[in-house]
Parts: sequence; C-alpha cells; structure tokens
Amino acid sequence: MRLATPTGFATEVFLQETPDPSLLPEGPWTLVGDVRLRETWTSAGMPEPAHTLWVSVSEEEKKLRTILPWLEHWARVPLHREATVVALGGGVLSDMAGLASALYLRGVAWQVWPTSLLAMADAALGGKTGVDLAAGKNLVGAFHAPRRLVACTAFLESLPTRHLENGRWELVKTALIQGEMAWAAEMLQDGPVKFAWVERTLAYKAGVVHRDPREAGERRLLNLGHTLGHALEAASGYGLLHGEAVGLGLLGTCLLAEEVGLKAFPPAFLEALARRLAPLAPLVAPWPACLPLLLRDKKAKHVPGAAEDEPGTEIHCILPRFGEPAIQRTLAPQVWESPHARLIDLLAQEASRA
Ligand SMILES: NC(=O)c1ccc[n+]([C@@H]2O[C@H](COP(=O)([O-])OP(=O)(O)OC[C@H]3O[C@@H](n4cnc5c(N)ncnc54)[C@H](O)[C@@H]3O)[C@@H](O)[C@H]2O)c1
Repeated sequence: MRLATPTGFATEVFLQETPDPSLLPEGPWTLVGDVRLRETWTSAGMPEPAHTLWVSVSEEEKKLRTILPWLEHWARVPLHREATVVALGGGVLSDMAGLASALYLRGVAWQVWPTSLLAMADAALGGKTGVDLAAGKNLVGAFHAPRRLVACTAFLESLPTRHLENGRWELVKTALIQGEMAWAAEMLQDGPVKFAWVERTLAYKAGVVHRDPREAGERRLLNLGHTLGHALEAASGYGLLHGEAVGLGLLGTCLLAEEVGLKAFPPAFLEALARRLAPLAPLVAPWPACLPLLLRDKKAKHVPGAAEDEPGTEIHCILPRFGEPAIQRTLAPQVWESPHARLIDLLAQEASRA
C-alpha cells in the first residue's frame, strides 16, 4: 500500500506485509544489508544483486571508517552514477547507507527498507543520514532523502522484544507532539504494536519534514523527549537504546512542562508512562552526570559573555501539553534538575508496585 504523502515529497512511502520485489529499483541497483536479515530477505524470494554487501551492524561501528570500504567497493565494481543503493536494516544501517549514498559520486539515489520498528517509525524517513564521532552521536552527516521507503511487517517478526519496545517510544512521541492523548494512552497499554500506528506516525512525519526539511522550525518538534533523552543515553554509556532514552525523556519533558507553568499531566497518564519505563530505572544516570551533557547538547546555544557552566547557556526544549500540540521554548539546562529527580521517583514508585 502506498501512503499518501504531500505533493512533491521526495520519498515514496510503502507499507507492506511482505517484501515485494516489484518495489525495488527499475534500473541498476545494489544492496547493502544487515547480515541478520539475509536469510529473511532471500527466503522471501528477494534478489541479491551482484556486489551486494552484507554487513554486521552495531552502534559502536556507526563510524566513517565503516562506510569507507563500502565506497571503495562501489568504486571498484564500479557502481554507476545512475544506480540506486538499497539499504536493508535498522536505523544504524540506514543512517550509514544513506550517508554513503550521499557521498558516493557526490550523491546517488537510494531506497530504504527499514527492518526495526524504530527505523520504520522514525530513522528511515526524513533524509537525515549520518555517523557518530568520538565526541558524540550523528555529528557527521548529510540530508539525503531516499527515493522510496518500503516498511514490511514481516521483518518485525524476528526483531528482539527489547527493540520492539524501543521503537514504540517514537510512536508515543508522535502522539504526544500532537496532543493525541487517547492514541498515546492506547500505545502505552500492553499488547502488540499495530501497523496502523506506524502508518499514522509516518504520515505525520512526512508532512512535517516536507514543510521544514532542514529543521529550521516545525521539524524541531520531532525532538520531543530528545533533550533529556540524549543526555541520559550518553550518560548510560549507551546502555540505554535510543528509543528507550527518548521514552525516559518524554516522561521527563511532561514533568518539565508542569515545572515551567503549563497545565500538569494527569497522574494516571504519568504513571502509565512510568510503568512501561520502570525496568529502565537502573540505567538512569544521576543528575550530576546529565548536566554537562545537556550543556554540550547539539542544540545548546551559548549566551555571549557567560561561562560554559553558568546558567548563561540556553537549550532548546519541546514541551508537550495534555490534549494540545507541543510547543517550543528556550530554557536554561538547569531547569531539568527537578524533572530529572521526579522522573527517578516515579520510576522507583512503579518498580516497587511491579
Ligand atoms: N536518521 C534519523 O532521522 C534517525 C532518527 C532516529 C534514530 N536514528 C538512528 O537510528 C539508530 C538506531 O536504530 P535501531 O534502533 O533500528 O538500531 P539498529 O539499527 O542497531 O537495530 C537494532 C538491532 O536489531 C537488529 N535488527 C534490525 N532489524 C532486525 C530484524 N528485523 N530482525 C532481527 N534483528 C534486527 C540489528 O542488527 C541491531 O542489532 C541510532 O543510531 C539513531 O541515531 C536516526
């Protein structure tokens, strides 16, 4: 099924039960895929073109040094500038394959076939590609939109439960950005992930990305939960997965909204969030470990004349509102201290009830 996207949107989006070879590029193409998916791909009757790269994938290897041999390989083949790269895998693979496609011959076309829920719901759409540096995640990259995105439910059958849960948080994030509380509450309940949720999330993200491809305004809303989330993710030494950290950041940002004077979220909703997040409590770093990371946030802005560790640094925050769309504010990173403490308390409360 082809998802309706805004006129002129750079990426055609397809949602399928099973992979369909007719959605592969018509002209010359090559494949770079997560080796974990090889069996699934070939046993579904999907082709393995000559010069396919099956690679092992991990966040630790999301580096420029990993994609250089791919570029050398394509140059040796040689892969023509009219060829399309097909990326098959989770967000790590698609971020790297997208960047390699942006770099090779100054940019060749690519398709993305996301295989994790997080990649289907978020990473594969929007044209952001990148790799990590020692100083932080996704610090090198390019905007390079895939021509086509094909998300197939069949891929999710082999996805480990922890990664399914991880992706669920990007779906909950979308509901909270829009103030769709009934939808958010539905996704916080136990039960399988519904593909209709992915469809709704992709449709929303396509609209936002189309209106603001370079993240100059509205697209920043997609960072809901990411400010505290990124700090917690890094402070956990990446023991927390990206989506898990976003989930914790979502609860934190609901608490922050109240802290800065917006209407408080109902306790039942906060408890539902905390209940799902409680198993992550041991990975939540203490405040002193988070503050320096918040000060170094990619979106932190230093106020002229203020020292780095003074409250002269401002940080861009997205604040959710119960039943209303989220809003954007610039705040001092220190405002997170109290929500961080309440987050820990709520998680402990829910963990003790379990
Ligand atoms: N570009 C963007 O806009 C954007 C947005 C959000 C996140 N990201 C990036 O996405 C990455 C996280 O993506 P992720 O959560 O998909 O992680 P991932 O790509 O590491 O995949 C998670 C794990 O599941 C495995 N896997 C993937 N699909 C599988 C399947 N169908 N069956 C069995 N195993 C499978 C992978 O090999 C890996 O071990 C991060 O690097 C993050 O920075 C990018």
